[in-house]
Amino acid sequence: MTSHIQIFDTTLRDGEQTPGVNFSFDERLKIAKQLEKWGVDIIEAGFPASSSGSFKSVEAISKTLTTTAVCGLARCVKKDIDAVYQSTKEAVKPRIHVFLATSPIHRDSKLMMSKEEVLASIKEHVAYATECFDVVQFSPEDATRTELPFLIECVQTAVDAGASVINIPDTVGFSYPTEYGKIFKTLQESIKTNHEVIYSAHCHDDLGLAVANSMSAIENGAKRIEGTLNGIGERAGNTALEEVALGLYVRQDHYGNQTQINLEETKNTSDLIARYAGIRVPRNKAIVGQNAFSHESGIHQDGVLKNPETYEIMTPQLVGVKTTELPLGKLSGKHAFSEKLVALGYDVDAEEQKELFKQFKTIADKKKSVTDRDIHALIQGTEHEQNAIYKVEALQLQFVSNGLQSAVVVIQDKDGNTYQDSSIGTGSIVSVYNAVDRIFNRKTELIDYRIESVTEGTDAQAEVHVQIKIGDQIVTGVGIDHDILLASCKSYVEAHAKYVSNSEVKEGIHS
Ligand code: KIV
Ligand code: ZN
Repeated sequence: MTSHIQIFDTTLRDGEQTPGVNFSFDERLKIAKQLEKWGVDIIEAGFPASSSGSFKSVEAISKTLTTTAVCGLARCVKKDIDAVYQSTKEAVKPRIHVFLATSPIHRDSKLMMSKEEVLASIKEHVAYATECFDVVQFSPEDATRTELPFLIECVQTAVDAGASVINIPDTVGFSYPTEYGKIFKTLQESIKTNHEVIYSAHCHDDLGLAVANSMSAIENGAKRIEGTLNGIGERAGNTALEEVALGLYVRQDHYGNQTQINLEETKNTSDLIARYAGIRVPRNKAIVGQNAFSHESGIHQDGVLKNPETYEIMTPQLVGVKTTELPLGKLSGKHAFSEKLVALGYDVDAEEQKELFKQFKTIADKKKSVTDRDIHALIQGTEHEQNAIYKVEALQLQFVSNGLQSAVVVIQDKDGNTYQDSSIGTGSIVSVYNAVDRIFNRKTELIDYRIESVTEGTDAQAEVHVQIKIGDQIVTGVGIDHDILLASCKSYVEAHAKYVSNSEVKEGIHS
């Protein structure tokens, strides 16, 4: 008999703690809808007390989702719990996740709390949360570095106070599979309760063991796995949920457990997160990497042609990877374009489709064949432009002398006001970026500049990612265009614009 493993997605909370990742309000809503389509059981939509931006998006996600539980994070602080209640109260299934660090290093160096004070705080705040929520999840942060007898005491206190989900975070990715699994076994043997308690695993990937530790937790009775798409998150990231879902599916002979994940939506979901986070998945990444289903060596190719199962333990179709792509071209009409959007998982209204079709035609005039990746880039570029506070209106470059370049940049804000400035620099990009800095009148530090081609071939579009530091804030921007310099300029303007809209600084919970 197979039993159900709940998938708890924290892409919008722990995933957003990835350095340089700042999802916009619209992006958070779109991610939440896609996660619901993918079939997760619970979405941790944010940490509502941390900023009004987080509060508003948790509230909007709660009002939008129709089947999935929406959870908010809270410290052991009453105003945090109130903020989760207020922001999730309209969700079909509102949930709360209360946490407090329990390990000696956190007690002594961060919280300055004795063991007794930690226990008292757990008791008080879990009990307080049960006044507004049917299901309360408690996490002893840094559980894997907590003395086991004290961890048991903390969990017993939370369960006695009404917690029905106990999450065991390996906060710093320190544990290994047999050790982590044993914690789950010990807790189930030690905790006394007359109500059902679900044990949940939450792993970080500092030693590259997050998925292995999560699978070990399942082998030892965990019924919920927390993680993110593509494994994004603080430092080395969190458990990659797509790997857990496929691991359980492909090796059901061993695990005997199933999730309710709609596996065919895996690739679409992963692509969406990669785009909005601005973090491409490595080519060799399990399940969703570009190479995950390609075969290079002649022997492997020969085997796969004779029988795919010789070298494939799952089909690309199972996770929604399309192997036989039908590219569009100059002669493709509205109908073919619209079908392609649907096939790629986009839900675009008729008005928007008209605009996208015009832009598709412009690309098709420049490129022999328009691939799926071009279409993804087109949508991404349009979304960026639609949400942009500032747009690049014009860019002009001129060679000066001694290798110097001069750039004139014109940008426009949402109200139609234009701003322009010029600057020289030791190269084209430097002069463009100097001119943009002058428009915004800000000092910046360029942390990362990455240029990728959307597809193969010399007619490919360029996708530029920048990461800049303004004051103590790191912001990112993406620009897509056939012209590399224009793509570079767009990405830089977007990063500046994000700084403007992020007037509320992202607050990390571990700081
Ligand atoms: O990693 C961690 O400890 C967390 C907690 C908030 C559960 O993310
Ligand atoms: Zn975490």
